[in-house]
Parts: sequence; structure tokens; C-alpha cells
Amino acid sequence: VKHLLGIKYLNKKDIQLIFETADHFKEVINRSIKKVPSLRDITIANIFFENSTRTKLSFELAEKRLSADVINFSAGQSSVKKGETLIDTVNNILSMKVDMVVMRHPNPGAGIFLSKHVKAAIVNAGDGAHEHPTQALLDSYSIRERLGDVGGKNVVIVGDILHSRVALSNIFALKLQGANVKVCGPKTLLPKYIESLGVGVETDLRKALNWCDVANMLRIQNERLDISYFPTTREYTQQFGVNKAMLDGLDKEIVIMHPGPINRGVEITSDVADSKQSIILNQVENGVAIRMAVIYLLASKIK
Ligand code: CP
Repeated sequence: VKHLLGIKYLNKKDIQLIFETADHFKEVINRSIKKVPSLRDITIANIFFENSTRTKLSFELAEKRLSADVINFSAGQSSVKKGETLIDTVNNILSMKVDMVVMRHPNPGAGIFLSKHVKAAIVNAGDGAHEHPTQALLDSYSIRERLGDVGGKNVVIVGDILHSRVALSNIFALKLQGANVKVCGPKTLLPKYIESLGVGVETDLRKALNWCDVANMLRIQNERLDISYFPTTREYTQQFGVNKAMLDGLDKEIVIMHPGPINRGVEITSDVADSKQSIILNQVENGVAIRMAVIYLLASKIK
């Protein structure tokens, strides 16, 4: 594997290898050894055409902990604003002897397109409503850490499935590992093809929560929505928001996940986000080890 463009292009063994490599890096970090010399001869460009907090910072930290040289590019402060194309932009960056590009882009398939036109390893850090592979890897890794295994677990993904790259990558990753997956949300936010991916559909949130071991609560993406999808945010929250009383009414203690950023009080209340059932900050912590693993494994193909 030369690139990481989506979970769709991985198999179960690839995921196991990434997890075992992440286990190693997590153990190293937990021993307070925050930097290893593995990638001293590798240069990585993080190019972000969309806003990010978690993904951008954890990629940068992962790269620095591997001792790679790192440059950061934000489209908003670049010559993209003067009309430079994506391929020209990246080829100019690569001419500075960069080996790997981590890219977030609003257009689905942008990473795939780039991988066909430039000579560098490409890591997709989120491409529009398509895939967010490292998010799905860190999500499954966090389920494995909390519940011991992903296989056989019941996972419900709640919210705006239609616009969510997190949902699609999670579905691919969870299915590869043998989890049972359902999606739950308003019909207008569930893609028509969803059942062809081998996932169940549940439009009643209480039934979904009673069924699952893990609920992955997606953010309502106001930047990709218009009013036609759901009448009001308050009505969305009444039907698809999770609060503490709902969790306390379940027969078992389920695990709560969220990729961030959270709209507190919309998809989950603060007492759910900050509860001991929530592994939201564990997900963020694991993102660094997972991204170290991905970069380390890809760099081994170019060294
Ligand atoms: N989960 C995630 O992709 O968050 P950011 O948009 O902050 O990177």
C-alpha cells in the first residue's frame, strides 16, 4: 500500500498491522519517550483546504514524534487564493524534496485524483463527504481498547450519514473487522444505497441505543446542510439527540463516541459527552498513535 486514500482500499490484515504498530507507539509514548528517530530522513507536507483541529494537530504531532521534517500549508493563506491549481500547488511543494502529503480537501475523491497526478505518498485526512480513513482507524482502535475487540460488537452510527465521511469510513472499517453496524438518523440524512453496504437502518433512536454496545454520535454538519434536510435543530435534537436520562434508562452501559467537534446540546448533552461512558478524549489521544502507525508504515515503502 503506497497511499492511504480510504478504508475501502484496505483489508482486515492491513488494519491489524496498523493497530499492532499503533500499540507499539502508544506504549512508547506512555513510557514518556515522546520522540523516536524512525523518520529522520522523511519530509511531510500537511496541506489543509478545510478547517481542522484534531486531525491537523495530531498528524503534525505524530510526524514530529517520528522525527520527520514537517511543513504545514493552509489553503486560505496560500497562492491557491490567486488561482493556483491543486496539482501545481502540490508539485511545487514536492519540488522542495517532500516525500509524503497529508491532505484534507472539501471535494470527494481529491486524494485519489492527486495520487494519480503527483509522485508522493498521499494520506487522505478527509475528502468532502467521502472518506476519513484515519478517523475510522482511531475509532475502531478506541473500541478495541475499551471493549477488547471490534468483532461481534453492535455499533450504531447516529446522525447525518448522508454527508459524513466519518460514517462511510467507519462502516467499511467496522464491517471488515466483523462488527454489526446500524445507522440511525432522519430518513432525509440516510443515503439510499446504505443497506447495500451491509448495515441495518433504525430510525428510532431508543431502539438503536437498546441494541448497541457502542453509539458513535456524528456532528450535525451545518456547513454541508441546508434547511430541506430537517425542519429545525431543536426538532433534530428531540428525535436524535442523546441525553443522560436516556443512557441511564438502558439495560446496559453503552460506550459513547463522537469524532468532534461536538455541538454540545445538539447531538449529545454535556453530561453525556463528559460522562465515564464517553471515550471521546480517548479517541483523540489514540489519533496520535494511529497516525504515527500509518505514516511509519507508508514511509517504509518509500525509504
Ligand atoms: N474529527 C475531525 O476530523 O476533527 P477535525 O475536523 O477538528 O480535524
